[in-house]
Amino acid sequence: MKKNILVTGGAGFIGSHVVRLLVKKYPDYQIYNLDKLTYAGNLENLADIENADNYHFIKGDINDADFVLSLFKKHPFNGVIHLAAESHVDRSIESPMEFVFTNIVGTVNLLNAARTAWQNQFEGHIFYHVSTDEVYGSLEHDDEYFFETTPYDPRSPYSASKASSDHLVRAYSHTFGLPIVISNCSNNYGPNQFPEKLIPLAINNIKHNKTIPVYGKGENVRDWLYVEDHAQAIDVIFHHGKTGETYNIGGNNEWKNIDLIHTLCSVMDRKLNRPEGTSRKLITFVKDRAGHDLRYAIDATKLYSELGWEPSLQFEEGLSKTVDWYLSHEKWMENVITGAYEAYYKKQYEQR
Ligand code: NAD
Ligand code: DAU
Repeated sequence: MKKNILVTGGAGFIGSHVVRLLVKKYPDYQIYNLDKLTYAGNLENLADIENADNYHFIKGDINDADFVLSLFKKHPFNGVIHLAAESHVDRSIESPMEFVFTNIVGTVNLLNAARTAWQNQFEGHIFYHVSTDEVYGSLEHDDEYFFETTPYDPRSPYSASKASSDHLVRAYSHTFGLPIVISNCSNNYGPNQFPEKLIPLAINNIKHNKTIPVYGKGENVRDWLYVEDHAQAIDVIFHHGKTGETYNIGGNNEWKNIDLIHTLCSVMDRKLNRPEGTSRKLITFVKDRAGHDLRYAIDATKLYSELGWEPSLQFEEGLSKTVDWYLSHEKWMENVITGAYEAYYKKQYEQR
C-alpha cells in the first residue's frame, strides 16, 4: 500500500537511521523529512539517500503552528513518526526553554495539524511519538526495571518535557480519538550521533588524546541499544503496533558509565594500535551532572512477545562497529566540530 509518511527530526541521529530504513525498505512510500536543522540536524547523515525518488526534505520548525498546518494541508500524510526534539540532558539543564518550545509546544502543533487535516477520518492514519525511558525517572535497585505501566517521574528539564509531550499525545488519543502510538527507548549509540553524547564524545577525545570527562564517580547505569536496532523497532511498531499503546524499547544491555568507558578504551587502544592502557589514562572524573539519574533499565518484554522485536546486535559487536564508523568518518566529525556541516543544506538544496 502506498503511504505518505512525515518523519520529524530526520536529519538528527536516530531520525536519519529511521529515514534511511524507510526510504530503502518501502519504495512505494513517500518519505517527508521535516527538520529545522538545529545544531543537531546534519543532512550529511542522509547524503547516500538524498536523491532517492521517494525521499523529500523539508526545512522547517515544528514550533511554527501555521507552517505545520500548511504542510499537512499540502501533503496527505497517512502517518507521522515524530522524533524532532531537543535531546541533550546537559543542554536542558543550561537552557530549559528551548526544550519546552520544541518538545512540548512543537508536539502539540503536530497533534493539532494531524487532527485538523485528518478531520476525524482516522482509519489508516497513525501519529507515532518517539520518546525516552527517562520519563520513568531513576531506578535505585539492581532488580528494578521500567515497564510500560511504571508511573512517570521525570527529573530533568529534558525528561519533563518528553513526559509532557507523551501525556499530550495520549490526551489527544483519549479526548479526540487521534490514533497514536508511543515508544520509550533507552540510550542509543552508533553512527551519526552528535559528539556531545557520551560515546561519540569519548571516541573523539581518545582519538585526539584529550581527556574523557566522566561525571561524578561513573557509577550511573544506562541501558545501551544500537541505533539501527532502534530504527527497526520503530518500523515494527509503526506498522504493527496496536493503536493507543505504549511500547518500551531497550537493549537489555546495562553498563555502568565507568565500565563502559574502560571497555571503550580497550577497543580504541586495539583499533589505534596503542599499548593497552593508553586510553584509560585520559579518564578524568569531573563534577557530576545536576540531578543525575542513577540507573535506567528497560523491560522490553511486551515488544518482544507482542510484536516479535528484539535487538539484533550484541554490545561488543555494536561498539566495535561504532568505533570503526567514527574512525573511518573523520571528515564527518571534523565538519560537525568546525560547524562546516551547516553549509551542506545551502550547497545541496538552496543552490539547486
Ligand atoms: P538529535 O538531537 O540527534 O536530533 C534531533 C533532530 O530534531 C535534529 O535533526 C534537529 O535539527 C531536529 N529538531 C530540533 N528542533 C526542531 C524543531 N523545532 N523543528 C524541527 N526539527 C527540529 O536527537 P536524537 O538523539 O536523534 O533523538 C531523536 C528522538 O528520539 C528525540 O525525540 C529523543 O527524545 C528520542 N530518544 C533519543 C534517545 C537517544 O539515546 N538519543 C533515546 C530515546 C529516545
Ligand atoms: O535514556 C535515553 C536518553 O539517553 C535519551 O532520551 C537522550 O536523548 C539521550 O541524550 C540519552 O541521555 P543520557 O543523558 O543518558 O545520555 P548522555 O550520552 O548525555 O550520557 C550518558 C551517561 O554518561 C550519563 O549517565 C551521563 C554520563 N556522561 C555524559 C557525558 C556527555 C558522562 O559521564 N560524561 C559526559 O561527558
